[in-house]
Amino acid sequence: MSAVVALKAGGEDPPRHFLELMDFEGPTLRRMLDLAAQAKRGAMPGKPLAGKSVALIFEKPSTRTRVSFEVGIHQLGGQPIVLSARDMQSSRGEEMSDTAKVLSRYVDAIMMRTHDVNRIRELARHATVPVINGLTDISHPCQLMADVLTFEEHRGPIAGQVVAWVGDGNNVAQSFIQAAARFGFTLRLATPAALRPPQALVDWARAQGATIELTEDPAEAVRGARCVVTDAWVSMNDETDDSGAPNRHNLLAPYQVTEALMRQAAPDAIFQHCLPAHRGEEVAAEVIDGPQSVVFDEAENRLHAQKGVLLWALGAG
Ligand code: CP
Ligand code: NVA
Repeated sequence: MSAVVALKAGGEDPPRHFLELMDFEGPTLRRMLDLAAQAKRGAMPGKPLAGKSVALIFEKPSTRTRVSFEVGIHQLGGQPIVLSARDMQSSRGEEMSDTAKVLSRYVDAIMMRTHDVNRIRELARHATVPVINGLTDISHPCQLMADVLTFEEHRGPIAGQVVAWVGDGNNVAQSFIQAAARFGFTLRLATPAALRPPQALVDWARAQGATIELTEDPAEAVRGARCVVTDAWVSMNDETDDSGAPNRHNLLAPYQVTEALMRQAAPDAIFQHCLPAHRGEEVAAEVIDGPQSVVFDEAENRLHAQKGVLLWALGAG
């Protein structure tokens, strides 16, 4: 069934920001995924973003986030405006609050990728249009919307399923913890002790009723899991942090997702990775290029999932 998506005229007060999965009730995230699925099926006639512009600010590199947002906005009839940090006055010290107020006079929504979560929080605090988180050092919620969509396309409802994260307890892992609480799946994380996700976040998820299990043993984490997930050992900015890239490689060497590890998961387990990947580091080539891997469906789903997020942020549903 196709349905015209009606967006509310004018802005909302307060604007519908999409900053962290933990900010939402499960049904609101479901609504965004329903819009995503509708957009993917082609069941969305018209151009719901006609006449609307969206600023896409990048303070870190990107391939998927940039192209999927840009193409998705075009396909919905809107105009994307890509802003690289080095071309903006904010790179010369203009305050985030002023950037937020100025951009809000021009565009209908702002997506930002930044190293420091406080910068996007500041942007959202002062923007009068929705702000969407395109990755920070502590989260990547758009990625998780695509990951849940991908799991459910391949294996059905994610609620009650077991997902295993193997490797660094990084920004994507932290959004997985939030997603486990909001979508109702069990999350087992196998990380070196030094690279565990923040305990406060784990405590928050458990207090929400989520089942979050922490271990240092990858085999224990993947046993019976329907989905095995990993990510780069060295995220953007980690090159320069205290633990340093060489130390991370030493710590994470036992955490490579190999065919032998995948054999300990459920027989029909899928493999996910947000990409970019490093074959021979966090994942063996035989796994990421093998029959259980859904990584390119996952990458494609960034396009669809973000349409759902954008349409919701701009007033659909
Ligand atoms: N997965 C992801 O966000 O990829 P990019 O860094 O290429 O945007
Ligand atoms: N954890 C990775 C994700 C890249 C999309 C990083 O932050 O670099």
